[in-house]
Amino acid sequence: MPLHVVILAAGQGKRMHSALPKVLHRIAGRPLLAHVIDAARSLKPERICVVHGHGGAEVKAAFVGAPLDWVAQAQQLGTGHALLQALPRIPRSATVLVLNGDVPLVRAQTLRKLLRTAGKGLAIVTSELSDPEGYGRVLRDARGRVKSIVEHKDAKPAQRAIREWYAGILAGNAARLAGWLAKVANRNTQQEYYLTDVIGIAAASGAPVSVVKAVVAHEVAGVNSRHELAILERAYQNAQAKKLLEAGVALADLWRVDVRGELTCGQDVVIDVNCVFEGRVKLGDRVRIGPNCVLRNVKVAADTEVHAFSLLEDAEIGAGCRIGPYARLRPGAKLGKGVHIGNFVEIKASRIGAGSKANHLAYLGDAEVGARVNIGAGTITCNYDGASKHRTVIEDDCFIGSDATLVAPVRIAKGSYIGAGSTISKDTPAGQLTVARARQVSLPRWSPPRKKTARTK
Ligand code: UD1
Ligand code: CA
Repeated sequence: MPLHVVILAAGQGKRMHSALPKVLHRIAGRPLLAHVIDAARSLKPERICVVHGHGGAEVKAAFVGAPLDWVAQAQQLGTGHALLQALPRIPRSATVLVLNGDVPLVRAQTLRKLLRTAGKGLAIVTSELSDPEGYGRVLRDARGRVKSIVEHKDAKPAQRAIREWYAGILAGNAARLAGWLAKVANRNTQQEYYLTDVIGIAAASGAPVSVVKAVVAHEVAGVNSRHELAILERAYQNAQAKKLLEAGVALADLWRVDVRGELTCGQDVVIDVNCVFEGRVKLGDRVRIGPNCVLRNVKVAADTEVHAFSLLEDAEIGAGCRIGPYARLRPGAKLGKGVHIGNFVEIKASRIGAGSKANHLAYLGDAEVGARVNIGAGTITCNYDGASKHRTVIEDDCFIGSDATLVAPVRIAKGSYIGAGSTISKDTPAGQLTVARARQVSLPRWSPPRKKTARTK
């Protein structure tokens, strides 16, 4: 039977107290809805419908180009009403899987199990918590069969004591769902058309309601508040940390690492506390990352050490390099083997050859630096003239004295020595010392200025 997925994502998320539509709030750097879509996609359905309403344009814009079928719910009259907007697009014989856009961590495995158990009836996902505050409670009859779901706001105290709660995920045949949905009314505390009423209606009509229980509650937990979002973020990150540890990565603290993307590590990689990895990051064997570093789309080759407080972005780092503390690699930084980039050094769109060093306070932008070059403290490339960018070439074995100002376009030929404090605006000859600064003079008959004495009257 063809599978069609409907994701309910039209709600505002009042409890977030945010101008951003709830499903665009992020876990691990990606919108909640993106996580749900991923889970749906892994089931290879015929179609994924997203019911949007509140902040609809913004939500759609976040997923341009994605193969999704957008269905508008002009007024948010409840989850049942939301599903009703999508059903006309789905063939009657199809199996419909309904997902809540604010339940981001559900695993494909659980959904597959749900689809297997749905059969001809209805299947729902539930979980258990000692106090499932806010969630719909699952009511069962004396024989343990599911009778209905009662929303927290409508539940009597005895019902609120029930530990089993509905996770906002169900599956069933499209035609039968449409029939049950037609009977849903809005006589409840919130005056909404609850999708959860479908369960009671189906059970009353004799349709079997089967249950798939999620053992770990956070897999199916919903995000309704910033607090719940923060808890799920940690749960997600902790799961990633465990995977890294299992793969042999040494984490200083499994609660203090954030992976917002894909982190691939070689053998014996060591990661200190409070590091953030974004996009695609690849760390080679024995790479060590110091505390409080941020790496975004970076490749680091074996045996390189990144010291504390470094920010590396869209960069490639060779083997055996020493980066930081307080280094900044900006997009297009490519370092060869054994390069040293020290504190307060910024590299942008530049290649640095093997064994070269810039150990303190330097800026290299749009530069081509050869091998074994020493860049003195305070040296900068003046790559920008206010209108366009120009390149600086520093060939192999150059020594750039401290505080040199290299005005691009300029070429420092092989083996050049540049005197400290020079402003270099012309190409230099190979193997010579170039000094471009005022000569030092001392005035022997100089005397210090004296204060004028006040005149007496
Ligand atoms: C819902 C369930 C509750 C369950 C919980 C699990 C209902 C009535 N209640 O409650 O039993 O325990 O999820 O997380 O279904 N939405 C729309 N249109 C609407 C209203 C909501 O698209 O008119 C969307 C929301 O954007 C959200 C999802 O449906 O993604 C769930 O809505 P929400 O208001 O968060 O329902 P809960 O109160 O959490
Ligand atoms: Ca919710």
